[in-house]
Amino acid sequence: MDGSTEARSAFATDVRDRVVIVTGAGQGIGRVYAREFANSGARVIVADIDAANAEAAASGIVSDGGQAHAVRADVGDAGSVEAMAAAAQDTFGRIDVLINNAAIFSQLDRRGFEDIPLEEWNQVLHVNVTGSMMCARAVLPAMRAAGWGRIINISSSTVPLGLPGFMHYVTSKAAVIGMTRAMARELGADGITVNAIMPGLIETEVENRGRTDAVRERVLGMQCVDFLGRPNDLVGMLLFLASPASGYMTGQSVAVDGGCVHL
Ligand SMILES: NC(=O)c1ccc[n+]([C@@H]2O[C@H](COP(=O)([O-])OP(=O)(O)OC[C@H]3O[C@@H](n4cnc5c(N)ncnc54)[C@H](O)[C@@H]3O)[C@@H](O)[C@H]2O)c1
Repeated sequence: MDGSTEARSAFATDVRDRVVIVTGAGQGIGRVYAREFANSGARVIVADIDAANAEAAASGIVSDGGQAHAVRADVGDAGSVEAMAAAAQDTFGRIDVLINNAAIFSQLDRRGFEDIPLEEWNQVLHVNVTGSMMCARAVLPAMRAAGWGRIINISSSTVPLGLPGFMHYVTSKAAVIGMTRAMARELGADGITVNAIMPGLIETEVENRGRTDAVRERVLGMQCVDFLGRPNDLVGMLLFLASPASGYMTGQSVAVDGGCVHL
């Protein structure tokens, strides 16, 4: 499980027995990440600020025969994030992968930046950027001790698009790309890679307050493929980034968006 040449030479793309923390895994895309990592044999910490959703997601995995443990965690709170990492260690004994998925997103209203309350602006940047950094900090001791780790940040293809109406959100997801690059440089020598994905428009079970049929049609028109993305369409890239096979790739941000943006 270390980063040595011998360990990497297996081209292993599997995540069996890896301990994976997925933040924001109580609903939406994160819930599917948690389920699919468990289906692939990983042991999953289902972390969310919504304890009931985290419990429901984790028990669904367990009743399907997977390994999961729910933790109520507010990624915007340093103490809560430390407790999340401790719970992962206590439950599964290690931390191999962090998926920084939690964000303030689906409940955001679409409006011009002059109308975004400053409090909401600050909260989006705090949770989406500082929260991801604090989660990475919290898992570092375990990953450093193991000499191996994968940190996967979730950005968005709204960044290259510069999508209007969500300037705080787009700004936060742009910061995630810069953070991914700097973090990769700081952690490479520890055997820890840091990459990001930029999902396109992804439909989940949750109503997205800022999304209209006109937005869906416009995005579909910009994509190369003729269907809107679902959470499962992101899972293959995440499994790769979480596995030993991606060990020579770090600091990158990859668009998984039906070909909507080409970087
Ligand atoms: N759905 C899309 O089209 C899309 C596109 C690009 C990127 N993304 C990104 O993918 C991720 C998931 O998106 P989604 O559509 O499932 O969003 P969502 O809003 O449905 O889910 C976000 C989850 O994060 C949790 N959360 C919010 N604040 C938290 C906090 N402080 N601490 C812990 N958990 C917290 C919520 O409770 C929720 O379970 C987000 O990072 C989002 O920005 C989504």
